[in-house]
Amino acid sequence: MEPAWAKLNLSLDVLGARSDGFHDLRMVMQSVDLHDDVTVTLDDTGTCRAETNRSYLPCGADNVAVRAAQVFLKRAGLTCGVHIRLHKRIPVCAGLGGGSSDAAAVLRALNRLTGAGFTCAQLEELGALVGSDVPYCVAGGTMLAEGRGERLTPVTPMPRLPVVICKPDFPISTPELFHRVDARTSRCRPDTEGICAALADGDMGKLARRMYNVFEDVLTHREGEIAAIKSRLLDGGALGAVMSGTGSAVFGLFADADSAAYAKRRLARDYAECFLTETIGRLKI
Ligand code: C5P
Repeated sequence: MEPAWAKLNLSLDVLGARSDGFHDLRMVMQSVDLHDDVTVTLDDTGTCRAETNRSYLPCGADNVAVRAAQVFLKRAGLTCGVHIRLHKRIPVCAGLGGGSSDAAAVLRALNRLTGAGFTCAQLEELGALVGSDVPYCVAGGTMLAEGRGERLTPVTPMPRLPVVICKPDFPISTPELFHRVDARTSRCRPDTEGICAALADGDMGKLARRMYNVFEDVLTHREGEIAAIKSRLLDGGALGAVMSGTGSAVFGLFADADSAAYAKRRLARDYAECFLTETIGRLKI
């Protein structure tokens, strides 16, 4: 079994639209211990397919984990079949990188199973063919991600810190959020340098106060629950709280496990998808 860890955006900035339909981004990413279980087996069917515990997820090439297997086999020059069992815990369409993380876990598992021996950088390169967040998810940790999300620079790793994640019961469309940002001229920007400096200083209060996601500026009234969850996390003692990626999951960083557990229990009365987890470091590949 290969764990596929969720990611958080400590900050997210959209620098501008590109001619290829994507946007240049600047984000500080962090992995947490909340994970899906990905089990990969090789067979002689010659096809790649997935099986999941979420009936609404696709099992064929529409599933990014299956696409990752196809891209890997092609690059490695292999013709075998791949079966992928996904036991999902990470909420879907939440901005937590669940699909990207499953895809990255498939790349790591196939690298081991087939003995292909790709380096971490080569797996990240393959990941970029599958989705924008997949390169980061190959090894995770605390990283600055730029370009489409594939240009990765290590920053000072975050210490282990409790995190509460809460996903309200509505998805937000990723392309739609990018359109809304495009239509806006002036906006606040996250202090990415300040976040990196806070990490280097080990000052988690300073870091949490600087967390910022530009997509929060373009949420509509209908998505007001995001702000309400943030307030509840802050009232519950979070050092800071912000929406992750294109949402709709919100997370809070906590200084101690007791206040995090209390905040999680209170939110869990109203939201089915609430998690108490903690930050984790980068994988060695
Ligand atoms: O690469 P991925 O499949 O995760 O992207 C999903 C959608 O998010 C893209 O089709 C695009 O609309 C938007 N996106 C973007 N710029 C990025 C990443 C994603 O515009 N850097």
